[in-house]
This record gives sequence, structure tokens and C-alpha cells, in this order.
Amino acid sequence: MLPDSFLLELKYRADIEQIVGAYVQLKRRGRNLTGLCPFHSEKTPSFTVYPESQSFYCFGCGAGGDAITFVRRAENLDYLEAVKFLADRVGLQVPEGSVDDTGHRRRLRILEMNREAARFFHSCLMSDQGRDARAYLVKRGLTKKTVTRFGLGYAPESWDTLTAYLRGKGYTEDELTDGYLGVRRKGGGVYDAFRNRIIFPIIDLRGAVIAFGGRNLGDKGPKYLNSGDTPVFKKSRNLYALNFAKSAGRGDLILAEGYMDVVAIHQGGFQNAVATLGTALTGEQARLIAQYTREVVLAYDSDEPGQIATRRATGLLEEAGVGVRVLAITGAKDPDEYIRTYGPEKFERLLEGSESAADFAITRLRQSHDLDTAEGRVAFLQEFVRLMADNPSPIQREVYLSKICRDLEVDKQAVAAQLAAAIKRKQQTARKREAGQLRAFTSAAPGARGELERQKYPRQVLAGEGVIAYLMKHPDSCAWVREQVEDQDFVSPGDRELYQAITAKLSQGHPAEVVTLSAVLSEERVGRLMEITTKDIYRDQSRTEAKEFIQVLQEYRNKKSDEELGRLEGEELGRYIASQTAHKK
Ligand code: CTP
Ligand code: MN
Repeated sequence: MLPDSFLLELKYRADIEQIVGAYVQLKRRGRNLTGLCPFHSEKTPSFTVYPESQSFYCFGCGAGGDAITFVRRAENLDYLEAVKFLADRVGLQVPEGSVDDTGHRRRLRILEMNREAARFFHSCLMSDQGRDARAYLVKRGLTKKTVTRFGLGYAPESWDTLTAYLRGKGYTEDELTDGYLGVRRKGGGVYDAFRNRIIFPIIDLRGAVIAFGGRNLGDKGPKYLNSGDTPVFKKSRNLYALNFAKSAGRGDLILAEGYMDVVAIHQGGFQNAVATLGTALTGEQARLIAQYTREVVLAYDSDEPGQIATRRATGLLEEAGVGVRVLAITGAKDPDEYIRTYGPEKFERLLEGSESAADFAITRLRQSHDLDTAEGRVAFLQEFVRLMADNPSPIQREVYLSKICRDLEVDKQAVAAQLAAAIKRKQQTARKREAGQLRAFTSAAPGARGELERQKYPRQVLAGEGVIAYLMKHPDSCAWVREQVEDQDFVSPGDRELYQAITAKLSQGHPAEVVTLSAVLSEERVGRLMEITTKDIYRDQSRTEAKEFIQVLQEYRNKKSDEELGRLEGEELGRYIASQTAHKK
């Protein structure tokens, strides 16, 4: 366990406003600050930072806690890693040997193994056995400098080259499979996951090799193979080359489809390019991007799937508050091919000429309809209305609406009415979807917000909340509360755990604060604690009010459920009734 004194010092030094501010645009509202929650999609800010208690809470999704909890979620770290991350930033030393860090050590081993593997793959590329692979890279126009910069490698066409090498370095079969470098054989043993492939190491923002992508040089297996999720890697939360792009010194990011595109764009002199890792862009990645830039240029393939992906990504990015421009690649399949064919200067001009996502979509829409016929114009306008309904900017909507109606010589009022109706329909479905997501979110975390007890015994649960809130504000009342309230008085197991953790801290003379409690409680429990302590009704609770809550708990203490009562008979029932009457007096 980390000493509370250390955690309190960390809380004192690591200002939550600054830490959260690096991820979320915060606006001051009275004593607190609000912004759009980085942990779920929302359009109206329900994410709140409380500088006074150095904590945060999202009224939308229930995420909450202290700076450590925040960093854990935002950076996808475990508890200790988050503590180290924060301590580093404020120049504090984490006390040695104070935590159980087996999970942490396991991750460090995998990261070390990945680094060894990346080095090994690279040396294979540079050795005799990598001759064909090198020739392939030359054919694709990559220079030696680029190959070195990206640490590209080659996995030989063999079942056990890498696995044998890593086994020789002391890595176990479990570590090999956990890190996705080895695949378990049915008859026992492991074999190389990557065979006869160009290797693209995936490097995170701290410079650690977290995963690999491999492009096939032969015809066995898929064209690209990517590491699955491992203890050190989550596909949907990382981006290829973000480690370079984040410090490229350009305001915007270029988002491409593949590894090869990114490498080629960087080689062309644009170091702000990133790509997703073998999957379509996720909401998490869009929010990650929003941490680094306000504007993205989408450079997806020019084919039909690329265009579908462009529309999807535009929606996700705009939802995350990122402006989108789209690159119109013509005469080539993708950015890599474009740069190789026409050179970086023309690519630069393409970037300069990239249209806003809306312009781009309208241009394409115009091209796909015959605007000289009445039917063509009607069909165009219907799709135009649908497109504009997706545009979050009222100003843009107005500008495009006016322009199109002028160009097509149609009545603006009619189209505007259509648009208004479409927007209304869209908002309704969005609200339904958001509510559905929240329901899924809360039921996916049982024991947290969706807890059954809170629907079944609202009065008891509320009384329990009141007691917890009182304890947090009046730690010196701990003994008084403990004399009257037993653990079992909490019908909700989650709240009981909170009560136990708080009273355990306080009765040992330790402070019970979010920062010390988040060391011993799960993220869900800390979120629940924040839900309770941020409720206005408990803000200035007097001892008399606390007493009332305690009485409610006591009242229920001996009360049996209807179901249990139904099973009581004769003497037992008599005793029960007597006990209840005695209690009332
Ligand atoms: N991809 C993948 N699995 C596949 C095919 C593609 O994960 N079987 C991902 C890879 O990240 C790839 C991206 O989708 O980089 C784009 O695919 P594609 O357009 O086929 O690849 P290119 O990058 O153009 O590949 P190359 O230029 O090497 O032929
Ligand atoms: Mn390509």
C-alpha cells in the first residue's frame, strides 16, 4: 500500500484542473469547471471538476474520482502506473516496495520483450535473410533513413525464428502468447505469429513498443496482420505514428488508412500523419485525436470503402469537437501511391486545397446527380437535406443552404423546412441512442449505477447515501456514526463497501478523501462515491439530518422482507412482531 501521506502530498501538488485541462476544454462555472466528458460521447457538458476537493464527476456516465482516477482512465493505465505518471509530472518520488505490482511487472516484461522483438525484426531486415524484404521496401520507395526512423523490420518465413530467440532470452511461452508474438500449438509449444512479413512496430507516446503490424510478402494469410489486444495494447485507443505526429509542430493531423500511407507521408515531409491500427476509427481514437488537434485532414483511400470510411470518421471526429477537411485524391489509390507518383509538392497542394468535409460531400453529391432534370434535382435535394442534418454547425448549414438554393434556383423556405424536420428527427434518435448507451453502460457495471437495490429499497439506499455523505464532510463524527450504524444496515453491497472503506480509514486516524480511498476502491466505487458527495441535498447536512438518516437505517435493521415474513410461523412470527413494536417505542 502507498502511504496516505504520500497520496495527500501528490494530491496537493498535482492540480486536477491542470491535469484534466490537458484533455478537456474546461469552462468555469461558479466554484467548479465543466466540459465535455472524455469518457463518453455527449454534446452538452455534464463533466464537472471540483477544484476544492480536487475531484471530478460526470453526471452523464458516472465516471468520477481524483486526478489518479482520471489519468488511469484517460491514459489507460493501472493504478500504480497512474500514480507514477502523476508523481513524475510534479517531481515526487513514489515510495519503493509499497505496492503489489505484479500486474505492472508483467506489463513491463511484455514491453521489454516487444523491444527485443522489434530489434530482432530490424536486424533480420538488415541481414542476409532480409534481402528480398529490403528490395520490396526499395520498390515501394522507402529510404534507409525512413526504415530506421520507423524501426521497420522483417519477420522471416519460419515457424520458430523469433520464438526461439526470445525463449533463449528467458521469455516464457505465456509471455510470448500474452504479447501476441507467439501462438500456442495444439500439441504444446508456441510458434511465430508473424511470418514472412514486413514489420511495423507500434510505439506509444512514452516511446514503448506496444504492438506490431505486419504486411505479408507472400500469399499465405491476410495482407496485414496486427497484434490483438494485449496487457500493454488496446487497438481502439492507439494510433500509428502518434509518437511522431504529436510533436510535428503543425496545427493539424493527417489521418490515413494504413501503415504504408503514414510512412510515405512522413517521408514526404509531413510528420503529422497518423493511422488507425487495422480497424475503422473508433470514438475513443476520435477523442484521443481531439487531445492533440482541433483539425484533421482525412486522407483515406479514394475507393468506395475509403469514402464510406471518410463519412463515418467525419461523424466521429465532429462529435469529438474536431474540424474535418477531406483530401480529394485523384489519379492514385491512396496517399502512398499519390506521393510516389506525383511527389510531395503535389501532395502539399492537395493538402492546401482540401475542402471542408461539407464542401467535399456536396461536391460528390452534385457529381452523382443529373441536376439538369427535375427528378435529379429533387433526389439531390433530398440527399443534401440528409447531409446537412448531420452538420453540427448552424452557420455552415445556413451558408450551404443559401448557396445550393441559389445555384439550383429553388425556394429556400421549402428546403429549410425540410431541413428543420430532418434535424428534429435526428435529435430524437440521438437522444434515444444516448439513453440506450447510458443504460448499457450502467448495466455493464453491476454494483454501480444500475444497482438493483436502489430501485427496490430507495429509502434505505438514500439513507445510506446520506450517512456516507455526512461522514465525508464530518470525519470527526466517525465514532458517533459507527456506534449507531452497522455495515449490514447498507442494503446495497457497493455502498456497504464504501462505508467500510471510509470508516476503516477514519478509525485508523487516516483521512478519508477521494485520493486515499481511490487507492483501495474500484473505479466504479469511486465513481459512486463522487455521485454521492456531489449531490446538492447533502451539501450542508446538519447532525440532526444525519441522525434522521441513521434512524431510517435502524428502522429497517430488523425489518424482514415480505417474502421472509410470509415464511414466518407461530412463535417466530410472534417474536418478530414484538421486536418491531419494541423498536418503535
Ligand atoms: N488492413 C488490415 N488487414 C487487412 C487489410 C488491411 O488490417 N487484411 C489495414 C492495414 O492497417 C492497412 C490498411 O488497412 O494498412 C489499408 O489497407 P489497404 O488499402 O489494403 O493497404 P495499403 O496500406 O494500401 O497496403 P499496401 O499499400 O501495402 O498494399
Ligand atoms: Mn497502399
